[in-house]
Amino acid sequence: MKNTKIAGIGFYVPEKVVTNNDLTKVMDTSDEWIQERTGIKERRYAEKHKESTSTLGAKAAAIAIERAGITAADVDFIIFATLSPDYYFPGCAVLLQRQLGMQGIGALDIRNQCSGFVYGLSIADQFVKTGMYKNVLLVGSEVHSYGIDFSTKGRNVTVIFGDGAGAVVLQPTEDSTSGILSTHLHADGDYAEKLAYINPGCHSGVHLGTEQFGYPEQEFGGAFLTEKMWEDGNYYPNMEGQAVFKMAVQKFPEVIMEALQTNGLQPTDIDMLIPHQANLRISQFVQKRLGLRDDQVWNNIQKYGNTTAASIPIALCEAWEAGKIKEGDLVCMAAFGSGFTWGSALIKW
Ligand code: UT7
Repeated sequence: MKNTKIAGIGFYVPEKVVTNNDLTKVMDTSDEWIQERTGIKERRYAEKHKESTSTLGAKAAAIAIERAGITAADVDFIIFATLSPDYYFPGCAVLLQRQLGMQGIGALDIRNQCSGFVYGLSIADQFVKTGMYKNVLLVGSEVHSYGIDFSTKGRNVTVIFGDGAGAVVLQPTEDSTSGILSTHLHADGDYAEKLAYINPGCHSGVHLGTEQFGYPEQEFGGAFLTEKMWEDGNYYPNMEGQAVFKMAVQKFPEVIMEALQTNGLQPTDIDMLIPHQANLRISQFVQKRLGLRDDQVWNNIQKYGNTTAASIPIALCEAWEAGKIKEGDLVCMAAFGSGFTWGSALIKW
């Protein structure tokens, strides 16, 4: 079996910059609070009526395809990771496919939130390794800004998230010592509601109980927004921030060590760690726990906020464009988020 390499990489973020001070105009928050707790200074927001998750993804994908030295016609499979799809269904992979003129090939959407890119990388790796596909396009893209609560009630979620997209093209490599060395995927559904976008959904209160769910009157359907949900403003993502933080600082180091140990390596062997950009404080904790130097970790949450499935490919691409990832470097990617899901991947570039 052949190894899988990243043959092309690209990212795209919308032009509109939204600073912490901009957010203070619509909710009770402050630049000081946001920077101190998350490290974020600004984020990008998509342009309404012109941009969406699939269009941002298509822009990043076009760059990755060109850098891989292929054309859209050469791509033989698409994987699209997002938690903010354009439509409830169908998924974003088919919308991106249409935009790039790649009709006919398989197109898969995955719903693994912050770990979406790492999960996608693992899926792509299996297809390439077995020889089923030669050019897999993997995209992570999000437009959070259309679906978050800009009132003070939603401030713990809203200040964190930003919009953007990243993409890679994965191909087989003849060199058995380089490319993706291993991927490690985990999840624990006990924590499903700790960071979730529950309403409107097709659950009719089955998991939380209709009383706790708060909408016992909802007899028919269930997938749609009821008048009461609308009145309550209960149609936004919710997060128990401290519970997520606590688990993240445990699982990030654990899953990075799992990847290193599988390959007989140590933290000192890492040339570049690309952590999912959840919170600068989480990245700093992980860095310290693993004893990594500043030049071994790439953080850009300060500029883009948390872009969920897009955060790893955006950071990876930025680090590569800055010349901080070179041929032969050991690159580690790790993510943790809603689900809870978490994972890691080790790549010899
Ligand atoms: O992508 C992966 C998933 N997400 C994460 O990894 C996020 C993990 N969690 C976190 O990053 C942090 O928990 C947050 C940044 C979300 C919140 O920080 P925290 O230090 O855990 O704050 P908290 O939720 O415990 O809230 C502390 C206080 C509260 O006020 P009181 O009750 O002490 O008066 C909040 O109401 O801070 C208040 N608060 C805010 N104040 C100003 C919450 N959000 C804000 C805000 N601006 N945006």
